[in-house]
Formats: sequence, structure tokens, C-alpha cells
Amino acid sequence: MQGDLHYQSGFRNHFASEALLGALPVGQNSPQRCHYGLYAEQLSGSAFTAPRNHNLRSWLYRIRPSVAQSEYRALANSWVETSPLTHVAADPNQMRWDPLPLPDEPMDFIDSLLTMAVNGDASAQFGCAVHLYACNRDMSERFFYDADGELLIVPQQGALLLRTEFGLLHITPGEIAVIPRGIKFQVRLGDDTGAARGYICENYASPLELPGLGPIGANGLANPRDFLSPVAWYEDKQDAVELVAKFSGRFWTARLDHSPLDVVAWHGNYAPYKYDLANFNTVNTVSFDHPDPSIFTVLTSTSNTPGMANIDFVVFPPRWMVAEHTFRPPYFHRNLMSEFMGLIQGEYDAKAEGFLPGGASLHNCMSPHGPDAQTFEKATQAKLEPHYQAETLAFMFESRYVFHPTPAALDAEFRQRDYVDVWQGLGSHFDPNTT
Ligand SMILES: [Fe+2]
Repeated sequence: MQGDLHYQSGFRNHFASEALLGALPVGQNSPQRCHYGLYAEQLSGSAFTAPRNHNLRSWLYRIRPSVAQSEYRALANSWVETSPLTHVAADPNQMRWDPLPLPDEPMDFIDSLLTMAVNGDASAQFGCAVHLYACNRDMSERFFYDADGELLIVPQQGALLLRTEFGLLHITPGEIAVIPRGIKFQVRLGDDTGAARGYICENYASPLELPGLGPIGANGLANPRDFLSPVAWYEDKQDAVELVAKFSGRFWTARLDHSPLDVVAWHGNYAPYKYDLANFNTVNTVSFDHPDPSIFTVLTSTSNTPGMANIDFVVFPPRWMVAEHTFRPPYFHRNLMSEFMGLIQGEYDAKAEGFLPGGASLHNCMSPHGPDAQTFEKATQAKLEPHYQAETLAFMFESRYVFHPTPAALDAEFRQRDYVDVWQGLGSHFDPNTT
């Protein structure tokens, strides 16, 4: 497996890759006869007429065309939910959850998906869903694609091997992967620890892209060359397999008599990719106060209002804290944007305890939040020397649309029902006679 792991560097470059020499046509996309008897198939991730800098498409040269499959049949609903949720009210309460427990029974990636919150409307192509996964077996004879959105996968425990139409991606905690809408793939455990857990943002709207850098300049935050897409890889396998599709909020299943991972060559700018968050070039204050957390944006999905993201994917990586005469943890705030957070490893500097690796929190539009009482006391007394915040890697899915927690998330045994108590010790320190 390791021998097949080769990558191409760059963010949405126009890549070209062939697993067999000469499989890619030269000078045209759709020749009368493709080499090696392959079929040519275009996969479009944007409207045909999207502006050139937003136009996403790839040409696949495959053993059989994707249409060589049975009709779709609806599958019974799982714990996966899709926006809009109409049977439960949105909730302004601050919420927090312990990690999703690993399964006791054998369970693959697809079966393990649990939706925590959704917003927007999948069929109208805006908003997103936040899912968790916790699996302990490979997808072997089944494959998956998502017509409702692209999948941003954030592993927290255990590595994953993503076997895709475009090639193989191996990701470990600290790395992320994005599987664009419609791309077929299969998830296998990527190490020998026997289990994997993590978070997924299913983005219904504009594909994630790098944020503009403004006055930061040409370099910084996530740099394009650190994004890695796979090289062409295929399997020519005759076998009865299942293709699961997520379409308009439901799972559907189709039968194939062969592996759909049969793309021998491809070219284009619509492809899966991965990124190591350790490569994030963190920018922060070297004087006082805090820039807003938008400085930690890795990827953004734009909405139709400039500056108001459908989704920002934001990370809080290990970094130096040097601000002078400043309350250094994240400030108390209320925000138009809604925030779903997770923790990959270590501790998050706004909370003394209770926010665990694999856990999650939700702070919706205008719901107040910030450091807990213990963190406030400690930070206001701390000697402000330069300090390296080493053991931490938190992240946030931040959206302009209110997150609607699912019934499964609201009723989960692993929900911390006493979360708001973390702020109850924040009493008055006010004394009009002292400064
Ligand atoms: Fe916040």
C-alpha cells in the first residue's frame, strides 16, 4: 500500500496523472477511441459556465463508465440527517459533548456516521452538516459518494486510507482531507490500531477554497503547495459490490459487478486532496490584544455575501503567545456567526477542563461564550512571559447560518448537560473605589 502513496502538490492545480503510460489522451479530452480501450468521462464540480477561476472539472479515463451500474434503491435512513430539519426546533443553548464512543460491534465508516448539526438547505446548495464517525472495520465491498456536498474529513484518532477514483489518500490525525461532491471512494482503517474517529463537515455550498490574504501578503496561513492530491491508481476487479449514494438527504444503493475505482488516468482541477495542519503558517499578534480568529482560517466556502462565509474551517494550532498586558485566552464574545468546535489533541486555551479530544461544542448565533471561570482567574493573574502553547489542536466550523442540532445530538448520552455551569463562577469583581 505504501508504495502506491504518491501525491501531486498544489491547490486545485490542473493536474494530469496516468497509472499506465499513454493512458491520457494528448491534445484532446474525448478521442474517438481512448488508449487501452478506456472510456472517457467528465466529472464537473461546477456549472459548465462558471467563471474560469471557479470552474472545476476533471476528465476520467476508466475501464467502465460510471453509468454501468444498476438502478438506485432507497436505503433505510441511518443516523445521518440533512438540512433543513423540520421536526425539531433550533436551539440557542451553548452545548458540549464528550467524544463519540468507539463502537462495540464491527462498524464501517458509513454505518458509523452520526449527524450532530445541520444548517442551510442541501437541495438549495447552501449550508452544511457536521457529522462524527467512529469506525472499527474497513469498507470492503461497498463504496460511497455524496451528491449533497463535499466532505471535509478531520481525523481525531486513528489513520484512514481513502481509496478514491482519483487515487489513494492516507491521512492521520493532524491532517485533513477533502472529497469533492460526487467522487466515489471507500474508507479503510489506515493503521493497525483497530479504530478511527473524527469529524466531517459536509459542505452543501461553494467548494472550499483558500481565503484571500489581504494585507498579510502573498504568503502565510495555508500555502497552496502543501495541498496534496493523489496520482492515478486503479483496480480492475470483477466483483459484486454496492455503491451507496447520499442524494437529497437520503442514502441510496446501486449494485455494480466491478470496483468503481477503475480510473486508469485523469486530468483536471476537480480532485480529492489532503493537507497537514502542521504546515499552517500561523499569524498572530506580536504586540497586544487579539486579532479575530479569522486569522486561523485554513479553507473557506463563500456565500453570496462577501465576507460572510457559508463555512470557514479554522484551526487553533500550537503557537507562541507573546501578547503584552493582554488577557491572552480567547475573549468573551457574542457572534453573528455560529460556531461548531472540535478538538483533535491536547487542550484548548479557553477551557480548563471538559473539552476533550474527540469532543465537540456548539455556540450558535449571538449565544454568549468564552473562557470558563477557572481560565479567567488564571489568565488575569498570569505572569505574561512568552509562552509556547504546545499541546493543542482545536478547530472550528464557523458558519453564517445557525446550526440546528439534531435529535441524536440533543439526546446523546455523551452530551454534557451541565455545560453552562462552567461560566457560573464568573461573579462580579466590580469595585468603584479601585482601578
Ligand atoms: Fe467563539
